[in-house]
Amino acid sequence: MTIWDQIYKNHQKGGSAWATLSEGIDPRFIDLIGKTNFKLKSAFDIGCGTGKYLGYLQSKNFRVAGIDSSETAIEISKKFLGDSTDLVLADMYDFKIPKNKYDLILSVSTLHHGKKERINKLVKRIYDSLATGGIIFITLPDIKFNNKSNAFKDDKEIAPDTYLPLYGPEKGLPHSFFSRQEIDSIFSDFKGIELSIDKIGRWFVVGTK
Ligand SMILES: C[S@@+](CC[C@H](N)C(=O)[O-])C[C@H]1O[C@@H](n2cnc3c(N)ncnc32)[C@H](O)[C@@H]1O
Repeated sequence: MTIWDQIYKNHQKGGSAWATLSEGIDPRFIDLIGKTNFKLKSAFDIGCGTGKYLGYLQSKNFRVAGIDSSETAIEISKKFLGDSTDLVLADMYDFKIPKNKYDLILSVSTLHHGKKERINKLVKRIYDSLATGGIIFITLPDIKFNNKSNAFKDDKEIAPDTYLPLYGPEKGLPHSFFSRQEIDSIFSDFKGIELSIDKIGRWFVVGTK
């Protein structure tokens, strides 16, 4: 069972809505979907969780697919999106995403759950999996915001700017934080990068292949 699997199970039993469990669809995403002409309307969500973003896309007539490493999340998403939806229980750092297939790849509050080398490699694979002209919508947490908030100050720094919480629901799950310059560099293959940051220090990265 993964750490997030336990979080979903606790929530099902009436426990707290940890982190994104209490969030709706980000308005930036709604805006992006509204203003973009997606030719294929084929989307892939990395760390789909309860499937809320994919549900929104389904309502806009997208074909949707996703992965998550929590069995419970996949079960919840299948119930919500329909059994025939292409949802796979998999670790995002190992999963072979089909190449040149999607015109939208999204990942909200997920990609940072590993060390930076793995995240970098995953972003390269995401690029390869997009059809030409395809778009990414990805969040990564900001390092300056984290340092100011001191949220991880008592946790273990296992690599530069990568922390392992020593207590709480996400105990033992790596969290990597990024500077603006690092984000520019990680996403340098993409065209037209647009960055914005929200009130909890999450960078939203939108870019095109
Ligand atoms: C903070 S939740 C975000 C869920 C969803 N994207 C949302 O915005 O509601 C993080 C999600 O990432 C998943 N996750 C964490 N590490 C993962 C990994 N290595 N591979 C795939 N999914 C992972 C968790 O199971 C969880 O569903």
